[in-house]
Amino acid sequence: IDRFEPDQVDLLPAFASPLPITIIAEMLGVPVEMGPQLLDWSHQMVAMYMHGRTRETEETANRAARDFSDFLRGYVAERRQNPGDDLLSLLISAQDDGQKLSEDELVSSAVLLLNAGHEATVHQTGNAVHAILAQGDDPRRFFTSPQTTAATVEECLRFDAPLHMFTRYAYEEIEVGPGVVVRPGETIGLLLGMANHDPAAFAEPFAFRPDRADQKNVSFGAGIHFCIGAPLARLELQVSLETLFDRLPRLYLAEQPRFRDTYHFHGLESLAVRI
Ligand code: HEM
Repeated sequence: IDRFEPDQVDLLPAFASPLPITIIAEMLGVPVEMGPQLLDWSHQMVAMYMHGRTRETEETANRAARDFSDFLRGYVAERRQNPGDDLLSLLISAQDDGQKLSEDELVSSAVLLLNAGHEATVHQTGNAVHAILAQGDDPRRFFTSPQTTAATVEECLRFDAPLHMFTRYAYEEIEVGPGVVVRPGETIGLLLGMANHDPAAFAEPFAFRPDRADQKNVSFGAGIHFCIGAPLARLELQVSLETLFDRLPRLYLAEQPRFRDTYHFHGLESLAVRI
């Protein structure tokens, strides 16, 4: 915040992006200065999920995956020699019934955490600031106590989630609603953003109401693949949003932001605010 331009700033690159990558790099024990490079690799890899990918997208993603893994292999080797107080060192030493993670498992876990650990949080931060500013008046009213702050973050997650669809494949025939039969091998799209606005589950689903009695959301998924980073993401959002509005309570939108025309991540193109 101290480094913001004095009058106007785009909060996506200046605030939302640096935080999650710095935190996940620090937790894993990967040099924080590598942040921009890690982001590049990660963006090239997640481009695989996007609609309309080309052969070039695939080759770039492959190259990024190889370079990212090579970097981590070197880093894992170094951490084996000099363990630190970080997640990578813990993963190296973790044992389950005498079995250790193989090098491939270690590297892919670290890649997954670095990739999954930032992009969704960046877009959720942007979407949350946007939703809060759109309510007008003093934003500090949404952060008057730890409970209010937590409820505000939950409502931001429900109101404008950064990930709207994940898919599952049916292993066996299942009826998911009256007359809706899914056959083995068929794909089901789980529309998380839509479930968060289900009028059967929420009163006035399109109103932003952190104090709603029916507070719940599926922004982190559900079941065995429930987001492993949910507690970290919630904490990051609680601390960053409260700090932002505490330091700059008179922020307002410099222009109406537009959502990026992308599939998979639901986030803003930019978030220009005036201070
Ligand atoms: C606001 C931020 C975040 C959102 C909205 C989010 C959302 C999700 C969702 C919806 C899934 C389930 C995917 C599925 O059902 O197939 C998921 C899985 C996952 N997330 Fe997150 N996530 C966030 C932040 C994080 C962070 C900070 C980390 C890591 C530190 C993380 C790591 C993971 C991992 C490893 C999985 C896979 C879990 C599994 O398949 O068992 N996420 N996330």
